[in-house]
Amino acid sequence: MKDRVIAVTGGGSGIGRAAALLCAAAGADVAVLDREAAAADEVVRAVARHGGRAVAVACDVSDEQAVADAFRQIRERLGTPDGLVAAAGVDLGGFAHELSAARWQQVLSVNLTGAFLASRETLRGLIEAGRPGSIVLCSSPAAFAGFAAGGATAYSASKGGVSALTRSLAVDYARHGIRVNAIVPGPTETPLMWAAVPEEQRSAMRAVVEDEVPIGRMADPQEPARAALWLLGDDSSYVVGSHLVCDGGVLAKASISV
Ligand SMILES: NC(=O)c1ccc[n+]([C@@H]2O[C@H](COP(=O)([O-])OP(=O)(O)OC[C@H]3O[C@@H](n4cnc5c(N)ncnc54)[C@H](O)[C@@H]3O)[C@@H](O)[C@H]2O)c1
Repeated sequence: MKDRVIAVTGGGSGIGRAAALLCAAAGADVAVLDREAAAADEVVRAVARHGGRAVAVACDVSDEQAVADAFRQIRERLGTPDGLVAAAGVDLGGFAHELSAARWQQVLSVNLTGAFLASRETLRGLIEAGRPGSIVLCSSPAAFAGFAAGGATAYSASKGGVSALTRSLAVDYARHGIRVNAIVPGPTETPLMWAAVPEEQRSAMRAVVEDEVPIGRMADPQEPARAALWLLGDDSSYVVGSHLVCDGGVLAKASISV
């Protein structure tokens, strides 16, 4: 990753934060984009403490102009990004019959439109510079199977969209030397994991997760982030349009408990 510039959306927390730190440790200059400016600043300080170089860019990935401005800032401060990890995401929960169109749209805007906008800026920069690159989007098991607990209406639709976007971009830009792939993290210990779960239900849900995920535990954010790092780097040079499933066996299991 030395001499490469990597942009990470949602880099202020969870899987994005872990990916930003891993990229910096591997020698990349990292742009940490997040709507939470303080969180992005904290990651930049953590990178600096380890001798790496990173810049924080406050940005709402669902805002077209904000994403364009953010990538202009990155080009000015670090150079054209060689890679992207699009990890910004929200999960607001909700069964369809109770879900407002505004809530549905909010999830789609961040998870799907945000992934598109960040990918578009990355692609534009790479094509203009005539350089190869690698884009990693964040899908989810929810893109492939209904969650048994239910209520993942907008989230699962957004992630299904991200998976389709991954394949579509991969085919369109492979000839430019730009690889597009996705990671599929399983239940990972981050704020998003618990965002749609009422406080009083969290310990019971954790017990269910640990019981039902084949590997018997939740993931540390570093685990899916390492998968993203591999997809960014040259070791995955022939990997195009794929989903790297790092879900502790959730999708392999996909069956009823009898
Ligand atoms: N945690 C899991 O179990 C899990 C499982 C599968 C997929 N994922 C996906 O991985 C990605 C990272 O999730 P995480 O678990 O690390 O979550 P997280 O909540 O720890 O981090 C998400 C980050 O995105 C930022 N963000 C949210 N909305 C934004 C916006 N509009 N603009 C810019 N930044 C915004 C948040 O501020 C936060 O820093 C998401 O796309 C998520 O859907 C997570």
